[in-house]
Amino acid sequence: MNLTIIGSGYVGLVTGACFADAGNNVLCLDVDHDKVSQLNAGKIPIFEPGLEALVRRNREAGRLRFTTDVAASVAHGELQMIAVGTPPGEDGSADLQHVLGAARAVGRHMESWKAIVTKSTVPVGTADKIRAAVAEELEKRKSEVGFAVVSNPEFLKEGAAVEDFMRPDRVIIGAEDPRALGLLRQLYAPFQRNHERIIMMSVRSAELTKYAANSMLATRISFMNEIANLAEALGADVEEVRRGIGSDPRIGYQFLYPGAGFGGSCFPKDVKALQRSAVEAGRPLRVLEAVEQVNEAQKHVLTSKIKRKFGENLAGKRFALWGLAFKANTDDMREASSLTLIGDLTEAGAAVRAYDPAAAHEAKKIFAEQAAVEIVASAPAALEGADALVVITEWQEFRSPDFAAIKAKLKSPAIFDGRNLYDPKVLKSLGFEYYPIGRKT
Ligand SMILES: NC(=O)c1ccc[n+]([C@@H]2O[C@H](COP(=O)([O-])OP(=O)(O)OC[C@H]3O[C@@H](n4cnc5c(N)ncnc54)[C@H](O)[C@@H]3O)[C@@H](O)[C@H]2O)c1
Repeated sequence: MNLTIIGSGYVGLVTGACFADAGNNVLCLDVDHDKVSQLNAGKIPIFEPGLEALVRRNREAGRLRFTTDVAASVAHGELQMIAVGTPPGEDGSADLQHVLGAARAVGRHMESWKAIVTKSTVPVGTADKIRAAVAEELEKRKSEVGFAVVSNPEFLKEGAAVEDFMRPDRVIIGAEDPRALGLLRQLYAPFQRNHERIIMMSVRSAELTKYAANSMLATRISFMNEIANLAEALGADVEEVRRGIGSDPRIGYQFLYPGAGFGGSCFPKDVKALQRSAVEAGRPLRVLEAVEQVNEAQKHVLTSKIKRKFGENLAGKRFALWGLAFKANTDDMREASSLTLIGDLTEAGAAVRAYDPAAAHEAKKIFAEQAAVEIVASAPAALEGADALVVITEWQEFRSPDFAAIKAKLKSPAIFDGRNLYDPKVLKSLGFEYYPIGRKT
């Protein structure tokens, strides 16, 4: 099938590569000329496990191509999948300018029937806005070409995006048009494995499902962060509590990890956008208000622990920071807790030497103007001259480090752990002061 993907970022690129791998002829459009030149030169602009090989294989087979040519991309696919960003606007609502811009471009150039499919995360009612925008463009040039608008929100996780896309838990399709529905069924057939994964629903329900899913996951994290802080106050250990409650199948173990607050390009903005929609609908979600407040506070929890040990004024202190990405296996630093922590530490006068296995290029751009923040090439290099170590991303390579070497390098043997990676008893026996989240030390 000929398929056009509009927007070649984390979602668009993975989606395009996975559909190409199933034998489809995919053309990916992006307005970012640099990104498209890199992709056409065989370079992958993001870090995502398995993506590079997948893109290379399908480019070489001629099934995956990249362009900035809007007219050519509209002409290519009967399915036009929109996977552009929906960043938060000033009031927290999803900014739809890229989505509607992409839809208008389809309306301006289409010469035959198209199914316009929204993969971007968009508020309820966006399909109606897309329909109106496309109709307006067609009207301007007196075209009577038909089209359908479908909602097909994406649930992949950065860091496991290819795996998630290839083996989805579910594929949500909100569609009323039988022709569009038939095309999507055909497109997703290779991804159904041993049983049907497609869940059909109305367009509005599909749009809401994505926000409800992310908000539920964010709620679990904020809930666990509150339990962790309470455990600390009461002398309990949140890791024991986590195991105790996760064993209940109604609760389950996933997304029950306390930490230094959630970040990334999705949870923070999606919680905000859903809340905004709820307020506009006259049904504010009080739970989500608390989820956001807890998360904002949690992003400062490590700073509080550091200041309790070293004092409010951190001038002259240097901290080793392990991890910058908002989670392991990605280079994405959007809304990462590391940004809040580094802001807090440098504001209090400290210097930071940070290492991340994948996000260094991103961090160097972000901190280019900040002399107090140095991005180094290895975990041991970050420890040079440091007063203490702070771990903020759960990369595999941080899980079993050489503690003797860490101790030898740190001025005071203190580890602040925003991911609860280590065993408090082991660290105590090695002579460390250990500051995890919600654990008994
Ligand atoms: N990143 C994730 O893990 C994830 C998961 C599920 C859903 N989503 C949703 O998917 C959407 C995309 O997210 P992302 O992380 O891939 O964003 P991204 O910022 O990585 O990529 C978006 C791309 O769209 C391009 N673009 C913008 N306007 C365009 C236009 N008019 N025509 C063509 N290209 C255009 C940008 O240049 C950029 O390359 C968002 O709505 C997000 O909420 C993201």
